[in-house]
Amino acid sequence: MPPNPHPLIVHFPIALLMASIFFDVVAFWSRKEAFEKAAKWNLALGMLTGIAAVISGLLAEESVPQFPIIHETVERHETLAYITLGVFAILFLWRFIKDGKFFERWRAFYLALAVIGILILGATAYYGGELVYKFGAGMPSQPWWRK
Ligand code: HEM
Repeated sequence: MPPNPHPLIVHFPIALLMASIFFDVVAFWSRKEAFEKAAKWNLALGMLTGIAAVISGLLAEESVPQFPIIHETVERHETLAYITLGVFAILFLWRFIKDGKFFERWRAFYLALAVIGILILGATAYYGGELVYKFGAGMPSQPWWRK
């Protein structure tokens, strides 16, 4: 079985995207630009590592046993991952393409959408964890890996 980098990569988008929202909330209260910059760059790195998580996930998918219950969970996990990345792609484009003033005016809406994105990210990670800790996907010690 080739090495599977998915479990190594997934923690980065989860941590970075959550950190981005955290810094946004701190920036909102403190009005300090440094926190806003931190939020912005955590978002950019979160997107980058999120794309890496999707690519590595698609590679990992091929080695998952095709039992219906596992397949269903993989599909749910995959769909949620795409929605997560879609939500954060909108936030990313909004933040990096639109000018600062526009962002300032719509900040509350941005934060609400970001919280929705984080909740979907949490659901994505939940089903990913289920794949590993409930069904043993990606665990070479499981009997179905032995051919
Ligand atoms: C935002 C993107 C994604 C995130 C944050 C994410 C997150 C996770 C997490 C947290 C796990 C459990 C890892 C562990 O505890 O060892 C996991 C496992 C898994 N994910 Fe994802 N995932 C993403 C995208 C995808 C995509 C697009 C697929 C394609 C079907 C996928 C397929 C899998 C598979 C097959 C597993 C089982 C373990 C393995 O073979 O690595 N993931 N994912």
